Amino acid sequence: MKFFIDTANLDQIREAQDLGVLDGVTTNPSLMAKEGITGRNNILKHYVDICNIVDGDVSAEVIATDFKEMVKEGEELAELHPQIVVKVPMIKEGVKAIKYFTDHGIRTNCTLVFSAGQALLAAKAGATYVSPFIGRLDDISTDGLELIADIRLIYDNYGFETQILAASVRHTMHVINCAKIGADVMTGPLSSIEGLLKHPLTDSGLKQFLEDYKKGN
Ligand code: G3P
Repeated sequence: MKFFIDTANLDQIREAQDLGVLDGVTTNPSLMAKEGITGRNNILKHYVDICNIVDGDVSAEVIATDFKEMVKEGEELAELHPQIVVKVPMIKEGVKAIKYFTDHGIRTNCTLVFSAGQALLAAKAGATYVSPFIGRLDDISTDGLELIADIRLIYDNYGFETQILAASVRHTMHVINCAKIGADVMTGPLSSIEGLLKHPLTDSGLKQFLEDYKKGN
């Protein structure tokens, strides 16, 4: 299972990269705005900065909502760095754009996916990644993990190579349950990755080991 971090914050990206388990980064316009990154040139530069920190794929989202502009923007993003994956929203024009990018060797991440039908369309168009937003489904009392399981079943039935990127992951149990279901990737905040470290028996066990070592040395 690949671990992506869902942020545009360079310090957090560095911290996750230093841990040695980071496989990539996802961003979106809201995450960029949260870091105060505005204006096309600054946004493009920020994507390159992120690529220079991590080894893996970095999702960069198009803002356009019509096919022609999406293609133009996506091609510009893909040119920035070989690690860039063009993030395209699950709308009609987006499906057309994903198909275009697939045919032209540009990798894509189909975002804002909330149903199995949308995930099926993304795979048919050849998306590299599909991003079902599990936290936002949970927010409206719909089981986000059930969607991951449905997509896993559908993709396995037909051998679709599109990778399931569980997005809008909010906490460690999301990560663990996505791993049990067989999501290919999860993207979440640094806390969802670091939370996996924690266990009180690890802390008390280590404390005891160190105390016993000190007694004999
Ligand atoms: O990767 C999708 C993500 O950015 C959305 O997360 O927590 O805003 O629902 P959230």
